[in-house]
Amino acid sequence: MTALESPFSLSLEDMRTHRSAKWSRVPADVLPAWTAEMDVRTAPAISEALQTAIGRSDFGYAGSPAPVVEAFASFARDVWDWETQDGPGRTRLFADVGHGVTEVLRAITSPGERVVINPPVYLSFYPWLRSLQLDPLEVPMREHASGVQLDLEGMEHALASGARVVLLCSPHNPLGHVYSAEELAAVADLAAAHDAVVISDEIHAPLVHPGSPRPFAPFLTVSDAARQVGIALHSPSKAWNTAGLKLAVGVTAAEGRWPDIREELDWAPSILGQYAAIAAYTDGREWLDEVRAEIEERTAQLGPLLAEHLPDVRYRPGHASYLAWLDCRELGLGDDPARVFLERGLVQLSPGPAFGTGGAGHARLNIGTSLELMTEAVRRMAAALG
Ligand SMILES: Cc1ncc(COP(=O)(O)O)c(C=O)c1O
Repeated sequence: MTALESPFSLSLEDMRTHRSAKWSRVPADVLPAWTAEMDVRTAPAISEALQTAIGRSDFGYAGSPAPVVEAFASFARDVWDWETQDGPGRTRLFADVGHGVTEVLRAITSPGERVVINPPVYLSFYPWLRSLQLDPLEVPMREHASGVQLDLEGMEHALASGARVVLLCSPHNPLGHVYSAEELAAVADLAAAHDAVVISDEIHAPLVHPGSPRPFAPFLTVSDAARQVGIALHSPSKAWNTAGLKLAVGVTAAEGRWPDIREELDWAPSILGQYAAIAAYTDGREWLDEVRAEIEERTAQLGPLLAEHLPDVRYRPGHASYLAWLDCRELGLGDDPARVFLERGLVQLSPGPAFGTGGAGHARLNIGTSLELMTEAVRRMAAALG
């Protein structure tokens, strides 16, 4: 990649060669704009690190976590002013965030318990909870004139009714909401008052847009209460587009906060994920800045594109990541407009109803791609109406 070439310069032809889920699990005539993978060239630092692993034939089980833990700690310190290693055993590795969240839940809950979530929210939260026979206790996000926020009163009721776990999505997927430190501190106070644990899924944090009105606030930094009640999950997999390399980082800030998690899970992360994570957090920051700037640009370009081709779709641009939540209710396509876009327009979005309450009549569009492919996706959506 030359210095001037965008990370998003891969063509449709390039992308059609990919074996990843986003591109290979759709028919050849469908344009995929669904699951959270970006259409990007890998960061040079990650390519080099993976080449090093190949050169060494270093494909054994995951190695010592220490180099990953240190690389993440220096990234968190430099970018978010977050000291993650203020005590022994604060950080541990998982194969991915899904495993991290479900293993923590498995350790701290019993079947039949309720877990507080804030829909419309990341669709896999629902099957993760169901797999452990846990019930989602939905406290929907609240809309106001200039954005969304947590319904703190609703959270208080949920915890007062006996729920002992909150599963936060911070920043919020699919709304792109970047929580303020005050909002998170209020959640921490409520959790502390009700003896609850907050699992904060922060996988999209490195993708907060450069122009976001608020910086990302790591949950474990917002207050003493948060440090007592919180467990945070991170991964380079969204920001550096390495989901298939399987590596996530779990962080706590209080002595004894890690529940008893099966030891054999230390063998689950991938060694290539370790190579990639060290490279991403250490030498992949410049690439990340380019990607964040371009995602912000794509976010700004989507509004006018929708106004031109789909003027009845409502879109409130978020301030993190590359997932656009589209309100399609005025199109009259029923609860699941993504189905109509797929059948009539040959473009695959994620189905709104899978994101829980507030998802009906909506669809999630993945804009982590070139302007050209995003434009083609919108054109296909519009064609579905014709
Ligand atoms: C909020 C959120 N959490 C977790 C995941 C899944 O992450 P992983 O592949 O590390 O399990 C995603 C994927 O899109 C996500 O958006």
